[in-house]
Amino acid sequence: MPSLSTIILGTGSYAPERVLTNAELSKMVDTSDEWIRTRSGIRERRIAAPGEATSDMGVQAARRALDDAGVTPAEIDLLIVATMTPDLPMPAAACIMQHKLGLPTSAACFDVNAACTGFVYALDTACAMVASGRYRKALVVGAEKLSTIVDWKDRTTCVLFGDGAGAVVIGTTPQPDVGLIGTRLGTLGESVDLLCIPNGGSSVPATPESIAAGSHFMKMKGKEVFKLAVRVMDEAARDILEQHHLRADQISLVIPHQANLRIIEAISQYLELPLERFFVNVDRYGNTSAASIPLALDEARRAGRIQPGDLTLLVAFGAGLTYGSALLRW
Ligand code: UT7
Repeated sequence: MPSLSTIILGTGSYAPERVLTNAELSKMVDTSDEWIRTRSGIRERRIAAPGEATSDMGVQAARRALDDAGVTPAEIDLLIVATMTPDLPMPAAACIMQHKLGLPTSAACFDVNAACTGFVYALDTACAMVASGRYRKALVVGAEKLSTIVDWKDRTTCVLFGDGAGAVVIGTTPQPDVGLIGTRLGTLGESVDLLCIPNGGSSVPATPESIAAGSHFMKMKGKEVFKLAVRVMDEAARDILEQHHLRADQISLVIPHQANLRIIEAISQYLELPLERFFVNVDRYGNTSAASIPLALDEARRAGRIQPGDLTLLVAFGAGLTYGSALLRW
């Protein structure tokens, strides 16, 4: 069988209507617009409606990606949803989305939890499965309702996160050297404690006391995460460029995980690549975890920032700590 390239056939994204501004947040916790903007670059974020689940946002993004690709739900035989906020602890959000999207019952549907790196992990998995020839067309979705795991009384985290979704459709082409050129994934499991939900899992199940103490919400050592994030994103970007004998200035657009503008600025300095080559929308959405890269990718494409022949670098880090990069040629 001739080898096929796995390519992105279409992209889509969705952000809930409700905008939560820094000014509103400063009435909820002891913070200010000035602090949030200067420390993170975030001006506002979106918050899902009470009855709006992760799968609902994922479905909206997926439908837009299918439309963009000109692919029908009936053609999809693989759905991977990157999320750490599935609708239910079990089963996977992908199963709920399969039904809502009307995908064939013969489609393989599962979730990937690699926190904010989830989309890059899911993209790599989907492309490998499609490249194997055993699946033809895949939907890869990043969707999060982080507003449900954020402690709205904790100013060190609640100002940073938002809800949203992004999706891509993966297919194949006989054209060589296009689509997913390569990935570089990694994990620093010794750093689990830096960013986690301490209670509610199998090691420490939730109790009325732990819930009263707020231990079922996300906890983060922000400064430590910041330093590691810069280190591993730089490493993941450099490694993949080196593997493919590329210089940073050959990348037309970097789509970094949108956690903090200062992290993106640091990567831009380390790679000696001007900030104009980085797509940034953290100011409007905050950190949407696994949704952040596909949401940014869709906005970048629709804004005309990605053209045929361009090389795009995705680079992410997240709880785990997980990190990774992916190189795409369009
Ligand atoms: O996808 C992965 C998710 N995680 C991240 O991306 C987080 C990475 N880390 C960061 O983005 C930054 O570390 C933060 C934005 C979380 C914090 O910025 P920082 O410059 O590292 O600030 P800091 O944690 O050192 O806090 C500085 C001060 C502290 O007060 P003192 O001890 O100097 O008196 C904090 O208590 O700012 C205080 N502070 C706040 N003040 C106003 C912390 N949060 C807030 C807040 N409003 N929301």
